[in-house]
Order: sequence, then structure tokens, then C-alpha cells
Amino acid sequence: MCGVPGPARASDPLPVHLSVTDRGSSNRTFDQIAEAIATFESSSEVNQFSSKYDYVTAGKAQFTPDEKAGYTLFRSSVTHCNECHRDGGPGEEPLFTDFTASNLGLPRNPAIPFYYEDKPDEQGYAANLSGPNWVDTGVGGFLLNAPRLSGVPNPNASWTNLASPFLGRFKVPTLRDVDKRPRPDFVRAYMHNGYLKSLKEVVHFYNTRDSLPTCGVGDPGEKVSCWPKAEYPQTMNRRQLGNLRLTDEEEDQIVSFLKTLTDGYLPAEK
Ligand code: HEC
Repeated sequence: MCGVPGPARASDPLPVHLSVTDRGSSNRTFDQIAEAIATFESSSEVNQFSSKYDYVTAGKAQFTPDEKAGYTLFRSSVTHCNECHRDGGPGEEPLFTDFTASNLGLPRNPAIPFYYEDKPDEQGYAANLSGPNWVDTGVGGFLLNAPRLSGVPNPNASWTNLASPFLGRFKVPTLRDVDKRPRPDFVRAYMHNGYLKSLKEVVHFYNTRDSLPTCGVGDPGEKVSCWPKAEYPQTMNRRQLGNLRLTDEEEDQIVSFLKTLTDGYLPAEK
């Protein structure tokens, strides 16, 4: 089977031909793997809630003036951040996501190797026949196609019918630990495609997506004084972001606040 690259053929969707009993224990093992991962994910090892933000909320530490100003902006009707990255309401934990999906109008990230995997390899398999013209349609694409990259329509009609408003949308991620990194010089990659490399770039994008001009190819001002066009503009959110009219200092204050969401804060040492 390993000699035949690519997804299973439609005529033989389960190409590992197991007996009913073996199929059962295989499925059970995969379920157990999933349960083990879910148990780890919901454990206190992952969910520490030990960030400076948590200490401040518990009255055991204080924000700096910039962090406090950033938090106020984050919760304001100027930025709308808190409408998607919810920091809690009645009966809600501050998980910094509302578990919905949105299209922020991000550009494609041409540094992703997948765009160039359009030539068949030595076994005749090409991961992405559309090459550089491939468009990541996010949650909607997942609902339309299963398995996703094979282009085989999803057999679950109740999903397929829901797909179109979700094209180009991605899940709202938590912002907890959004500045966490293994070492100080480690460069983070933000958003679903890693196009933005720092929290400053992220906040600048929310602030100026629509107020700055569209970049030309190789424009030296990219990410600072211009933005490339959206990868999938059709469902782009134009109501809550794009032209927030924040000053450079206010952008920095929001970044200061986001950095307080990293677990492992040691109040005695600060
Ligand atoms: C309309 C809902 C919405 C609003 C408003 C919003 N966000 Fe987001 N945010 C998202 C979604 C959706 C993503 C993921 C987008 C993607 O990957 O394409 C995201 C991603 C991020 C990320 C990157 C996280 C990561 O791990 O890659 C940061 C940081 C962030 N938002 C901060 C903010 C800040 C700060 C504001 C306010 C200025 C804000 N967001 C407003 C929906 C929203």
C-alpha cells in the first residue's frame, strides 16, 4: 500500500483489508489514542491558568500602565478584540475564544512549500495540482471536501449544505500563551498560514488592513505601509476590523497586554 502514494481510491476506500475483529480493535485503539490526547489537553499540565493576566484577575499582581491600557483597548468597542477572543462573561471561563470562525482577510503566504508541490514526485504523486493558484478555503473547504485535498466531495450532505458561508473562515484561536516561545529569539508564525511573524504585525494588520494601500509585488513596505490583497475576500469580515484608527502607541499597548497571557508568571520575581 505504501507503494501507491496519495489518498485511497474511491473504489477501495479502506485499502488495509482487515478482518471484522481486527478492524474493531484497530478502531478502538485509535479511539483510545484520541481519548489519551484529549485527557492530556484538558489536564492542568496544559491548562495552567498561571499567566500574569490570571494573577491580576485574582488580585495578586498588577498590570503595568501599558498593559492596563492595552487590556482596556482589547475590551473596547474600538478594537472589538474581546467580541471574538472572549475573556469571559457570566458563567464563562476567560479562554480568549468564542469558538466561532471568521475570515480576517489575510493574504496568502507564498513561503508555504505546498504552493510549489504541483510536480509529480518519483512515484507520480503531486500534493497540490493547483500549485500557486491553490486557495485555502478554511472551514468551508473542510465541509465541502472529504478527504480534504483529494477534491472528493464530502459524502455528508448536511455538512456540504452548510459550507458556503464558511468558505475562507478559520477558527478563532485562544490567545492564551500567544507570546510563548521556546527561546527569546524564536520567531513565531501567526494565523492559519503563518503569514504574520510578530504580535505587532498582527495588531497592525487588524488596525490598518483597509486603511493602507494594496502592496505591489515585492513591495518593500509590505506589512508596514501596505498589505497584499486578501486570499479569499468574498466572506471577509468588514464590520469588526480593518480600520481601527489606533495610534502606534496604542498598538504597542495591546501587544503588551497580549504578552501577559503567557503561563508560568512568577510574581515574586517581577
Ligand atoms: C471577528 C472576530 C475577531 C476579532 C474582532 C479579532 N480577532 Fe483575532 N483572530 C480571529 C480569528 C478567526 C483568528 C485566526 C485567523 C486565521 O488563522 O486566519 C484570529 C487570530 C488572532 C491572533 C493570532 C493567534 C495565533 O495563534 O496565530 C492574535 C494574536 C489575535 N487574533 C489578536 C486579536 C486582537 C489583538 C484583536 C483586536 C485588535 C483581535 N484579535 C480581534 C478572530 C478575531
